[in-house]
Amino acid sequence: MAATKQQVLDSLAKIAGPDGSPLTSSGKLSDVMVNDGKVFFSITVDAAAVQAWESVRARAEAAVRAIPGVESAMVALTAERNASAQPSGAGSPRAAGPAARGAPSPIGVPGVAAIIAVASGKGGVGKSTTAVNLALGLRDLGLKVGILDADIYGPSLPKLLAIRERPQTLGGTRLKPITRYGLTVMSIGFLIDEETPMIWRGPMVISALTQMLREVEWGALDVMVVDMPPGTGDAQLTMAQQVPLKGAVIVSTPQDLALIDARRGIAMFRKVNVPVLGIIENMSYFLCPQCGTRSDIFSHGGARHEAERLGVPFLGEVPLHMEIREKSDSGLPVVATVPDGPLAAIYRDIAAKVRDEIKGATRVAPNIVIEA
Ligand SMILES: Nc1ncnc2c1ncn2[C@@H]1O[C@H](COP(=O)(O)OP(=O)(O)OP(=O)(O)O)[C@@H](O)[C@H]1O
Ligand SMILES: [Mg+2]
Repeated sequence: MAATKQQVLDSLAKIAGPDGSPLTSSGKLSDVMVNDGKVFFSITVDAAAVQAWESVRARAEAAVRAIPGVESAMVALTAERNASAQPSGAGSPRAAGPAARGAPSPIGVPGVAAIIAVASGKGGVGKSTTAVNLALGLRDLGLKVGILDADIYGPSLPKLLAIRERPQTLGGTRLKPITRYGLTVMSIGFLIDEETPMIWRGPMVISALTQMLREVEWGALDVMVVDMPPGTGDAQLTMAQQVPLKGAVIVSTPQDLALIDARRGIAMFRKVNVPVLGIIENMSYFLCPQCGTRSDIFSHGGARHEAERLGVPFLGEVPLHMEIREKSDSGLPVVATVPDGPLAAIYRDIAAKVRDEIKGATRVAPNIVIEA
């Protein structure tokens, strides 16, 4: 039988904080989410007290894992910096996950050669679909590839890769990612029910992300593709800062409005010195599934012009095609399941360009900032 929230709270009441009082009455515990054997919560403490709390976090996690019916537990320790101590960052809480704590810039993930973000300024432009097929295209080039779903608010990988199983824990602390189509995969959606609306506070987002980077046994990877949440707000900016990115790929549709958002996305990455590897135009033109005829139903080519204007590489065009949507939405990504078709070839071409851009990418000088 699955564990209940009350059982989790009862076990946390037996864990003492550094001052000896129970964790449950410390005022530092977030809401505890319990869903079908998966437990997630965070402990938010003052930045100066993080070290004293790390063992409390570890004991809390171990206690929850020991409850019968708990299959996985993720306990994040997050630090909120005093607003007066950090005036420029007011309103954008920073995280201090176990590895990021105290580090002024993000450090790499051991064994992972390059981490790239797939991002868009705007939602619904096909970012997750592109991230999955790009990862598969990179796999087809002979690379060892992982994919991390950083879209904490709306994780897509469980659906796009039809993953129902949960990651197992290794040695009680680290999570073993799921393997699908040769990709190493991790998503917060594996730990929390996709249908459960989640209210994430700033520090929880970052620490969940930090844990998925640092406490997952990724193994040796040539490339890790990170599917970022849409938008260019504080949360995305902090994520772009916290993940040791080698570069970012921007997905846009051709319409002017989407391009304005894409420009914001590029500006955001440049602001945090992450090289923009290029732009992909998704839903670029319509490819008739029956006759293969191409029609430019939107103002096709907008992203290419925008890339030229902003001086970033143009990585390719993906057509609007029923097969992409149908396959994607049923967990059978087109590059993996129709590898000999024209759509897979398009994604592989884009992957080859991305691979070349990764090779040439170096972090840019901090003063190159373009305004959106
Ligand atoms: N090239 C394409 N042709 C047809 N359908 C597509 C294409 N790309 C994506 N889609 C479809 O568009 C929808 C949105 O795609 P997706 O979830 O990848 O977007 P997203 O940018 O990640 O969205 P969100 O901002 O919600 O994370 C999905 O139903 C997907 O199957
Ligand atoms: Mg998405």
